[in-house]
Amino acid sequence: MVAGNYIYMDNAATSCPKPKEVIDAVCHHLSTLSANPGRSAHSLSLEASRALFNARQTVADFFGAVNSRNIIFTLNVTEALNLAIYGILSRGDHVVTTSMEHNSVMRPLRHLESEGVIDLSVIPSHTDGSVDMDGVAKSVRPGKTRILAVNHASNVTGTIADIKALSDIKGKALLLVDAAQTAGCLPINLQGMGVDLLAFTGHKALLGPQGTGGLVISKGAEQIMPIKRGGTGSNSEFEQQPDFLPDRLESGTANGCGIAGLARGIEIIKALGIENIRSHEKKLTEIMLEGLKKIRRVRVYGPLDPDRQVAVVSINIEGMSPSDVGYALDRSFNICVRTGLHCAPSAHRTIGSFPQGTVRLSMGLYNTEDDVEKTIDALTWIAEHG
Ligand SMILES: Cc1ncc(COP(=O)(O)O)c(C=O)c1O
Repeated sequence: MVAGNYIYMDNAATSCPKPKEVIDAVCHHLSTLSANPGRSAHSLSLEASRALFNARQTVADFFGAVNSRNIIFTLNVTEALNLAIYGILSRGDHVVTTSMEHNSVMRPLRHLESEGVIDLSVIPSHTDGSVDMDGVAKSVRPGKTRILAVNHASNVTGTIADIKALSDIKGKALLLVDAAQTAGCLPINLQGMGVDLLAFTGHKALLGPQGTGGLVISKGAEQIMPIKRGGTGSNSEFEQQPDFLPDRLESGTANGCGIAGLARGIEIIKALGIENIRSHEKKLTEIMLEGLKKIRRVRVYGPLDPDRQVAVVSINIEGMSPSDVGYALDRSFNICVRTGLHCAPSAHRTIGSFPQGTVRLSMGLYNTEDDVEKTIDALTWIAEHG
């Protein structure tokens, strides 16, 4: 879809445009449901509480959570990952992760490592971005590894990880999945996939507004501690944080209008069918990969296989910097892409594109085959003319 006069190929950063129904849900919430949920007993507050409860239920159903109480709303996946990491880990714990992780996983883990709190094993992934399953299996220390943290799909190469297989080799560690690039475009079921903690962001494939996201907590990970404490509207007679979910982990007034938009985004996805969304994005990826193959001087990273990746394709044009290519796409062709390191320096070291990074073409629900063909034509021109 053309957003204004632009072809938007930056859905891995955030989806754009947002569906009208999502915008309407945000506006409706702002204009009619803006009382504070869970704080007062008057009718408007109760209505706002109901809206928040319904949204929590929508998210719980969508991800196959045990209970809607086990959905913790956050500002984004970064906050959800920080909650999982700082809320679970304590001194002496061992953590296993991969070299393809985003800084939203890597930085909190490196921080805890540098403070001497955890022992961290970062397992180098393969150059196509796939997880070294043997390496992970060998690194898990029985009784010592507390978290195995992996992304469901890389934001650099789109490579999809086999979460069920990782669950089978994690032992007693908690499997923490960063679903930033998959929630809304790949089916996810917490119990079926053996995920203990699922961190998601609302503003990418879930089609919601920025400032939304959450952590889905399985039964076995319910002991997670809060990283912030404060008003919850419950147990107000106590100066201690309530110990029940979701209040233990959710303090302060929620982003009610944003969450209403997120719930509407999920309803749109459910109505369309996530398998249909996946087929559409697979088709776009296939056309993109086929077209890129024909352009001389273009190097494509990742699995080069629509079955093994989400609709994220990283490339470079020989002799040009990623930012020059991105600039030309934007200024001469009105095509929006992201260039550089995509907040994942270690992933670029893994695939061999550090320090310059790549040009990332990321497609979404509203992109068309025509968008992809126009992007290929533009890249062909840029590769020929510089
Ligand atoms: C794999 C991955 N993890 C984490 C993030 C951070 O997302 P957010 O800015 O919504 O917290 C992103 C987004 O770019 C991502 O792709």
